[in-house]
Amino acid sequence: MTLNLKDYVASYPDFPEPGVLFRDISPLLENGAAYHQATNQIVDYAKQLNVDMVVGPEARGFIVGCPVAYDLNIGFAPARKKGKLPGQTVKATYGLEYGESSLYLHDDAIKPGQRVLVTDDLLATGGTIAATIQLVEDLGGVVAGTAFFVELMDLKGRDQIKGYDILSLMQY
Ligand code: PRP
Ligand code: ADE
Repeated sequence: MTLNLKDYVASYPDFPEPGVLFRDISPLLENGAAYHQATNQIVDYAKQLNVDMVVGPEARGFIVGCPVAYDLNIGFAPARKKGKLPGQTVKATYGLEYGESSLYLHDDAIKPGQRVLVTDDLLATGGTIAATIQLVEDLGGVVAGTAFFVELMDLKGRDQIKGYDILSLMQY
């Protein structure tokens, strides 16, 4: 039986600040069949792209990327927020639907020429994914594709990553 994944996304008006309609994937994660179905769709996509590594931004990008990397028996590199990675890093700063932030990647996380899938739970303005792509490319990685559970179409995040392949499982 194929589930309608949108049945497992909750919507919260005015979170974390007025004017933002927060799309929460917690119900999807809490349902084994829904999480499995969503993950499998991204695994199938990653197989077509022939990727060597998965990279996801803190925190929800880990939730999407780690099970994909595990299933494919390839590595996962976390793109983390300030002050979290102990080694030498590369850095990218970006704007958010609510605020500004920076992401960091260990500078030996990706080998030049490796094909990378970048994952996150949700594509909004595209700032987070653009920064994560920049980190991968700074290290010589090739971004083979990007994958999200949810895409917020009004915020036009895909315009920030023109030319990159995008898989989003649900659109709002
Ligand atoms: C959320 C979400 C994406 C990003 C999408 O993360 O998980 O990473 O925002 O927004 P954008 O397309 O406008 O960049 P958030 O920064 O809230 O961090 P979290 O995953 O730690 O909750
Ligand atoms: N990250 C950025 N915008 C978001 C939204 N509207 N819902 C959930 N996560 C988000």
